[in-house]
Amino acid sequence: MAEIGKDIVQAKDLLQSGQLVAIPTETVYGLAGNALDSEAVALIFETKNRPAFDPLILHTASIERVGDFVSFFPEKLKILAENFWPGPLTLLLPRKSNVPDLVTSGLERVAVRVPKHPLTLALLESLDFPLAAPSANPFGYISPTNPQHVDAQLGSKISYILDGGACEVGLESTIVGLEEDEVVIYRLGGLEISAIEKLIGPVKIKDHSSSNPAAPGQLDSHYAPRKPFVLGDLNVLVIENLANNINFSVLSFADFFPELSPENQIVLSPEQNLHEAAKNLFSAMRKLDEGNSSVILAELLPDEGLGRAINDRLRRAAAK
Ligand code: TXA
Ligand code: MG
Repeated sequence: MAEIGKDIVQAKDLLQSGQLVAIPTETVYGLAGNALDSEAVALIFETKNRPAFDPLILHTASIERVGDFVSFFPEKLKILAENFWPGPLTLLLPRKSNVPDLVTSGLERVAVRVPKHPLTLALLESLDFPLAAPSANPFGYISPTNPQHVDAQLGSKISYILDGGACEVGLESTIVGLEEDEVVIYRLGGLEISAIEKLIGPVKIKDHSSSNPAAPGQLDSHYAPRKPFVLGDLNVLVIENLANNINFSVLSFADFFPELSPENQIVLSPEQNLHEAAKNLFSAMRKLDEGNSSVILAELLPDEGLGRAINDRLRRAAAK
């Protein structure tokens, strides 16, 4: 088990000596290491069991620091950074040569964001290098949204988890880049598309094939529980599975099923609030995955606002 605490100096010392620390952000917890130290970066891949073709996001304290590792900041993306950083927005920007190849998997663009969490911002301020930090889960599994999630899966491999409580947003950052002059969304996430479009006009949402993902978070099967995860109309699925005597659990948006025991169901937001649903989503998926049912039944949410990113994660959890 790792130590869980709020000591920024301890975290800083570990990171400066090339070790990894789990850090809180507003989206999900990250597994952080010195982004400019190839060995620390290699340790991140090893610890997560992550394939080397899946590049990492750099976390830094402010927009002013981006110039340390990015060669050029296109105007449209700068507008987004000025408006949404710190926040759940990741930008793909041309990298400088001090960024190790392993960080970008050899790509010419590096992913960068300023996370919105007071502890992590203070830590980043105190360091003279950016932190590379993928979500702090084994590759392909559900992202962690509290320190206990991290400890359960990576606690034997790292020594310290910076405790920032439960993540406020609960979904990974929205990833944005430019192609020609067009703004492209590579991963739906905690920053809503409508907020981006309000500032800079229409954007293109790119759907990646699983064979050649520019953002492997876009792999068809990702963010996935170990149990079968079935999406559909819950009213129909519940009746069918009851009739077949299947030991199932239910992940619903707002409805409680009185005919089922409370331990076998989680309601994401009784008031149908998409922010609340996003915040609860990954914890709920984990809890049902750890419970004793043999299958999880779930439903899509309204396809608007954060519902789009939530549905993206639900579909990937259900994909084979
Ligand atoms: O909210 C988040 O973004 C969290 C927190 C910890 O910041 N991080 C996160 O990292 O979700 P990770 O590694 O789990 O997902 C990062 C995604 C991957 O799908 C990766 O392929 C994509 O970002 N990515 C990173 N660098 C890229 C690049 N240079 N070009 C295209 N995609 C990139
Ligand atoms: Mg991840």
